[in-house]
Amino acid sequence: MNETSEALSRYHFPAADCSRIPYGMYRDAEVYELEQERIFRGKVWNYLALEAEIPNPGDFRTIAVGDTPVIVNRARDGNLHAFVNRCAHRGSIVQRQLHGNARGHICCYHQWSYNLEGELVSIPFRRGVKGVGGLDADFDPKCHSLRRLKVESLNGVIFGSFADDVEPLEEFLAPPFVAQLKRLFHAPVKVLGYQRQRIFGNWKLYSDNVRDPNHGGLLHMFQITFGIARLSSVGGATLDAEGKHNMSWTAQGKPVEESKDSGYGDTARGDMDIKLRDPSLLEYRKEFPDDRSLTIASIFPNCTFQQIGNTLAVRQFRTRSADEFEVVSTFYGYEHDDAAMTKHRLQCANLAGPAGLVSMEDGEAVELVHRAIVRDKQSHSVVEFGGKGAVKDQENLVTDVPIRGFWLHYCKLMGIQPGAEA
Ligand code: FES
Ligand SMILES: [Fe+2]
Repeated sequence: MNETSEALSRYHFPAADCSRIPYGMYRDAEVYELEQERIFRGKVWNYLALEAEIPNPGDFRTIAVGDTPVIVNRARDGNLHAFVNRCAHRGSIVQRQLHGNARGHICCYHQWSYNLEGELVSIPFRRGVKGVGGLDADFDPKCHSLRRLKVESLNGVIFGSFADDVEPLEEFLAPPFVAQLKRLFHAPVKVLGYQRQRIFGNWKLYSDNVRDPNHGGLLHMFQITFGIARLSSVGGATLDAEGKHNMSWTAQGKPVEESKDSGYGDTARGDMDIKLRDPSLLEYRKEFPDDRSLTIASIFPNCTFQQIGNTLAVRQFRTRSADEFEVVSTFYGYEHDDAAMTKHRLQCANLAGPAGLVSMEDGEAVELVHRAIVRDKQSHSVVEFGGKGAVKDQENLVTDVPIRGFWLHYCKLMGIQPGAEA
């Protein structure tokens, strides 16, 4: 366990089960700095990209792990590599394009050049001019490669880690999430497009949001009104043994019959009689062996694999500061999709993303919390739906137990002992 730092000792988690989270943990710049070292550069696997995005030798994407710029590319021999996108000379970004194909990566500042393995292969004027200037003879380019990450791929989904001693990827993911990735990536995929959204809040408010099926049937009017998922639907949440990952799911079919005395009777969310003129947006074309029509699988720390009907996407929330993050969504389908299915997936993509009919409220909810918790940093949220105590799988949607699972693992990596005396 990491030592507790001064920044962390400012905040007290009064409950050992993380059913109380001090607000300061979402607003403190020093906590954010520690997270970069202990979470994103710690013993975790971070989502990097899909292999379908870099199918050919030389293909690359520039991405981020936490807030560290990273290049992921495919080398001439077909192997995948990832390294920090920061020149070994004076620290400039090396590759400035979002994606492309290249024989290597050349820094624009003084033209140092790196190969697809991240090794420094060329330095202009290394010997100076006519023997004057340049680098000393003992300068060894081999000592100045770009910093490499470990890379593993599961069914075409690429993950990277800064920690040499991180466990193997499949162990980190744990069986339910290995199974879910194999389910979603059971066939070669094709990328359909991207969306990016800047949200002015702390990234952990978003990781809480994706682990909170309880809000799905209350905040998202479109989802409730048209029956995509209601809290009365058949569904639940699946966790790994530690609870750090979570998959919220809803089964296809009609929700439990609503009546005046159902839970929605107490809310302003009761109008179930509105109909869409074109209901094809809501149509789920069964494409997996099970009956799950909505699955939101969140992998610790900052990545979600979502299936909203036939809309398939990877969502990564990239940290920028304690007060800002960016959600990057990669929408995809399968290579074997016919034109009609691709059209359907693209139409249904209107449900997700920054202006998504289902998901546009999430960014707003995060910002509403972030703005309100600027003071009273020792006050805390209440995370008790689904019960207190040990985290375990949930067989209903009125729960926020998965949020506690995230925080228990977060505390372990950060060196926090929830419930310990202040
Ligand atoms: S900073 Fe990259 S070559 Fe000088
Ligand atoms: Fe949501």
